[in-house]
Amino acid sequence: QAQGDVEAGKAKSATCVACHGSDGNSPTDMYPKIAGQHASYLEKQLAEFKAAATGGTGRANAIMGGMAMPLSEQDMADLAAYYATQAITPVPVAEEVVERGSALYQGGDIERGITACIACHGPRGEGLESAKFPSLSGQHPAYIKSQLEMFRSGERNNDPNGMMRDIATKLTDDDIAVLSQYVAGL
Ligand code: HEM
Ligand code: HEM
Repeated sequence: QAQGDVEAGKAKSATCVACHGSDGNSPTDMYPKIAGQHASYLEKQLAEFKAAATGGTGRANAIMGGMAMPLSEQDMADLAAYYATQAITPVPVAEEVVERGSALYQGGDIERGITACIACHGPRGEGLESAKFPSLSGQHPAYIKSQLEMFRSGERNNDPNGMMRDIATKLTDDDIAVLSQYVAGL
């Protein structure tokens, strides 16, 4: 495992700025924010974009596959270390989804077999570096929605043991609409 260097990562981030913004807070919701995300999770995603782009199993994405292709393990570690030190800009709490959102996020749904998101993503949507559980708070709701839909369809299948796919297949469109707003504002 390569040790990431923040300054080296900053120097290597010039090509990322066009989409992810000058500090990892992408100005439009066409692209995810990557500021403040756990380094372990960022590194895993970069390695998996590259793996899928080079014919292996990973996370298939045309744009990010091309971006990750030339990166070495050291580059990935440096970029991850750099973005992890940036602060994510908050998303305002959407009051109208708090009641339903918190019920599902905090409590899951035993009847439908939905595990509570809080178990892995934490009380504040902060995730867990040591387990590579991503933080969610502050992320663009549109991106969260797209990822939940992709886990549900199986288009995104790089989650260990299918933990996100299992949950996502039990979520309705309405659940996804509520949760994506709710977790962004956590
Ligand atoms: C997703 C890093 C350049 C467009 C991501 C993710 C990471 C990342 C870590 C996953 C985020 C997550 O799972 O929360 C980087 C780095 C770059 C770079 C380090 C520079 C080396 C770019 C550029 C573009 C771009 C230049 C646009 C042309 C996207 C898109 C996604 C994404 C569209 C979402 C993919 C999806 O929906 O699955 N990027 N990125 N990235 N990035 Fe980049
Ligand atoms: C990834 C939401 C429950 C483990 C994600 C992502 C979202 C999300 C939006 C993608 C983040 C990104 O691309 O930046 C949710 C919601 C949940 C939930 C709304 C409840 C309905 C859980 C639970 C676990 C879990 C219970 C653990 C058992 C993970 C892991 C990833 C992930 C490991 C990263 C997968 C990878 O390595 O690419 N989750 N999650 N999640 N979630 Fe969840």
